Amino acid sequence: MSLQEPPARSSRTSRAPSQTASRVAEPAAPAPPTVRLKGFTRRFGDNVVIDSLDLTIAPGEFVALLGASGSGKTTLLRTLAGLDSAAGQDVTTPQARAVVFQDARLLPWKKVWRNIALGLDGAEVRARAQAALKEVGLGHRLDAWPATLSGGEAQRTALARALVREPALLLLDEPFAALDALTRLKMHDLVLSLWREHRPSVLLVTHDVDEAIALADRVLVLDKGKIAAEERIPLSRPRQVDAAFHAIRRRLLGKLGVEIASTQGATPSPGPHPGALIAFPIGVTVN
Ligand SMILES: Nc1ncnc2c1ncn2[C@@H]1O[C@H](COP(=O)(O)OP(=O)(O)OP(=O)(O)O)[C@@H](O)[C@H]1O
Ligand SMILES: [Mg+2]
Repeated sequence: MSLQEPPARSSRTSRAPSQTASRVAEPAAPAPPTVRLKGFTRRFGDNVVIDSLDLTIAPGEFVALLGASGSGKTTLLRTLAGLDSAAGQDVTTPQARAVVFQDARLLPWKKVWRNIALGLDGAEVRARAQAALKEVGLGHRLDAWPATLSGGEAQRTALARALVREPALLLLDEPFAALDALTRLKMHDLVLSLWREHRPSVLLVTHDVDEAIALADRVLVLDKGKIAAEERIPLSRPRQVDAAFHAIRRRLLGKLGVEIASTQGATPSPGPHPGALIAFPIGVTVN
């Protein structure tokens, strides 16, 4: 998305104020949120997992969701994905949604491109699958069987399967948790470049505080069924693990009940490779 420059003012033409005013466009109203939940509650029997939760996600916004195990992150994500009924509740989501889970969930008896094309019709589905695979760097694995993919390749295939649906809302439930640290860094770069290109709203569930800060515009902490903390991340991308990063990390960890020594990370550590999104150490993970 590019912001349009306002039209340049010409020094040679001057108009009467009333004329000028009639030509000045009204400022555009802010776009409605992609996601809106108001007072959303989800319980299983007596167990109130989500408790009157309010949440909005703006178009193109990248939100990360942290929270202890069992705090309801997946429950919330499943609701937003339409996998769990929200009947009778004030929940607004777009029709075009896609989810990537921790495991790629590829059907082993279908070739990679058919996994991506699952549920799509039209003569050009193979070409669409190929284009999506190319975007995740796997254009050459179109006819591969899922069993022959590495863990990282399988997750990239899952991302391609999500992308091909052109989602307005991309839901990611710990999609990198099972990957090694370097593959995870590469996936961070990939997700950010896909997000820049396609601009969906994103909700990323993660246990990794650094991942959340490295990627998101806004980080939320879910606790006792409510948003217990919210941090806007004002750092420009690609993000360096600098003092500002550490300050945000300390605050979020505090909200998650983890105290770290105030001296930790005062000096940024050298990165694993020049293109890496963030420098080591990565992955302060809270379960
Ligand atoms: N279908 C279900 N029936 C009963 N209880 C459920 C169901 N799904 C989730 N729960 C309960 O809801 C709570 C939240 O689960 P959820 O999977 O949303 O947690 P989470 O934050 O994603 O945890 P984790 O970080 O371990 O993935 C848990 O106590 C879980 O046992
Ligand atoms: Mg979960």
